[in-house]
Amino acid sequence: MLIKERIRAAQHSTNVCADIEGFDFQNYDARDIAEIRRLWLQYGVLRFKRTRITDDDQVRFSRNFGEFVIHPKQLQEGGHPTHPEILVISNVMKDGKPSGALGNSEATWHTDTWFYERPPAGAILRAIAVPPSGGDTYFLSTYIAYDTLPETLKKAVAGRQIFFQNVYDKTGKLRLGKTEPASSDFREWSGIVHPLVRTHGETGRKALYLGGTIEGAWIVGMPLDESRSLLAQLWDHTTGSKDVFVQVWEEGDIMMWDNRCTMHRRDSFDPSSIRIMHRTTTSGERPV
Ligand code: OGA
Ligand code: MN
Repeated sequence: MLIKERIRAAQHSTNVCADIEGFDFQNYDARDIAEIRRLWLQYGVLRFKRTRITDDDQVRFSRNFGEFVIHPKQLQEGGHPTHPEILVISNVMKDGKPSGALGNSEATWHTDTWFYERPPAGAILRAIAVPPSGGDTYFLSTYIAYDTLPETLKKAVAGRQIFFQNVYDKTGKLRLGKTEPASSDFREWSGIVHPLVRTHGETGRKALYLGGTIEGAWIVGMPLDESRSLLAQLWDHTTGSKDVFVQVWEEGDIMMWDNRCTMHRRDSFDPSSIRIMHRTTTSGERPV
């Protein structure tokens, strides 16, 4: 009989991510999953280096962490031919059309699908093909962002709600199923309201929630100028953190993040190189 290795976690100095060793994606039990879950909640981001797993393995593993969510991009360019649970992130063109989401450009700081009422709890992103350089992915903790706020800002955000318009994406394209709004004031557009400071349902810790952009965001009830200036300060504070973990991908690497207490961004890369990722997404609660 094979003796299983013990699962070990080594935290990076950035506080945001831990490397996991000793987890076998083809041979695990409920206790191993409970351990991974505990570590995921503790660190926010877990990395599994150079795994050799299949799409089936990834889907099966993800199922242990909640219901699948279909990411809007899966209904657009990021659908997987055989696994509806998987979002394909790729810059490869097939017959003149993208065969995956995100292309080769930079993806600026965000938390996933913040413009939904119930943003996902987690994402599991696995590298299928990586370019020789570029396309690194950065992670930060929004627990740390909240905890390190100066007292004046902590007071300013207490009990506040944030409105995000959800008609246009960050590149100015209409989101799936949305139509041009009539009003010139984005606060009257279709959108979603979340708490600016959310309390994580499982850890009970507070995290700053800035979604994916402060353009088209408004702190509900605050004069617009004041809201803009406060949001800019919060954004700079959060994304200026020194506690950023940079993932330089190798084939087979998996990043598993808690979307309720982290943000991430991705560098652009040379469009003539190939970068392909397979991602699964699990459902989350409405932020409170
Ligand atoms: C994502 C994302 C970054 C990357 O999957 O949500 O932002 O590295 N991807 O491709
Ligand atoms: Mn993302």
